[in-house]
Amino acid sequence: MGDRSGQAFNISDLREAARRNLPRGLYEFVARGSEDEVAVRRNRERFDAIAMRPRVLVDVAKRSQETSFFGQKSAMPLAVAPTGAAGLLWFDGEIAVAKAAARAGIPFTLSTASIISMERVAAEAGGRLWFQLYMLPERRMSHQLVARAKAAGYEGLVVTVDTPTTPNREYNRRNGFVLPMRLTRRNMVDVALHPGWFLNVFARYMMRSGIPMLENYPEELRVKLTAKPGEQRGLPKNDSLNWADLRELRKLWDGPLMVKGVLHPDDAAMAADCGADAVIVSNHGGRNLDCSMATIEALPAVVDRVAHRMDVMVDSGFERGSDVVKALALGARGVFVGRAPLWGVSAFGEPGASRALAILREEIDRVMAFAGCPDIASLDRSILHLSPGFGAGQQLAPQPPRLQPVPPVRAA
Ligand SMILES: Cc1cc2nc3c(=O)[nH]c(=O)nc-3n(C[C@H](O)[C@H](O)[C@H](O)COP(=O)(O)O)c2cc1C
Repeated sequence: MGDRSGQAFNISDLREAARRNLPRGLYEFVARGSEDEVAVRRNRERFDAIAMRPRVLVDVAKRSQETSFFGQKSAMPLAVAPTGAAGLLWFDGEIAVAKAAARAGIPFTLSTASIISMERVAAEAGGRLWFQLYMLPERRMSHQLVARAKAAGYEGLVVTVDTPTTPNREYNRRNGFVLPMRLTRRNMVDVALHPGWFLNVFARYMMRSGIPMLENYPEELRVKLTAKPGEQRGLPKNDSLNWADLRELRKLWDGPLMVKGVLHPDDAAMAADCGADAVIVSNHGGRNLDCSMATIEALPAVVDRVAHRMDVMVDSGFERGSDVVKALALGARGVFVGRAPLWGVSAFGEPGASRALAILREEIDRVMAFAGCPDIASLDRSILHLSPGFGAGQQLAPQPPRLQPVPPVRAA
């Protein structure tokens, strides 16, 4: 069948096409947030609460959204966010999305929790690759992952710091979509109703190498996605991660080091103190702490505190080019997109992931033209109309530092 991705006119069309393809448990795993999904809604509402005050009669005939990340050119101010499940949405989905990112001229971030190993993605995808690290309970194992990423040629390391415990996603438990996945009547019916997914994704993995696993995990922690309960643990968590760990990672990684999941300006400053090159203002797409603030609202205070020392990136809920332009105008250097390319790949494979990025590209271009901003450098806060309550409560009087000085780094 030919490429039908052009039938999607926006990210929401891709999401709808993905919804039809995927078993409901998988669709909900990607689409939904945690608990009452307040954070997902809040992310959206706060984008919509920002209006634009465009400039007119500016010659915008030649427009460019080219920018740079860590001194290297990027065709768009976007990067693909790490998402553990890409390989379950499409056969070799991580490679498909990484290829789409390479074709679009933007970086792709591979999750620690990917179905395809980091070595295979590096060998087959090409383009600019960053590796996302979830610290494992044993530091030694995490450091081995870092060494593997370095050896495989990953350029950047993204350390995720906003997941000290398992998020409360009740629908996943209801759907049996927990690790290891449980085979229940409900999810067997769900899969039976989506034979296309079963044949094109799951069965192909089974024929190639058996039940899909989280391939980056060290042997002793590997999770077969459908192991029997009790046979294997869920994803290992690390709630003792601290600033000393970040300093240690800084010693191990000489490329760009990004800290993902920061909302508080003090934390951004701490990350800079530890030698990080960037922070990613993120609430994990509204998937972790349901009462967390919207990232577009957290962004300006972080920018004001640290943008002179490090790059500030942002993610969570970006679905329109205008969302991206608003974040850049507030001072972000780049935006990570998670679900948008996932909807594309779930619906149409690699062309679908490319379509998602092309849609965002067109939308960013159009909004820049309307705003009277021919290039990224011309985007600033003057084109935004921020409502009086926007970011309220963030300009608090200076607080005494809550954090103790960072203890000395342990020997590796
Ligand atoms: C299905 C899914 C899996 C994710 N897995 C990871 C992960 O393994 N590591 C991580 O740091 N963030 C993960 N995230 C969060 C994304 O990196 C990113 O912060 C978020 O998706 C951005 O919001 P958006 O999806 O609305 O663009 C995941 C998000 C989704 C939707």
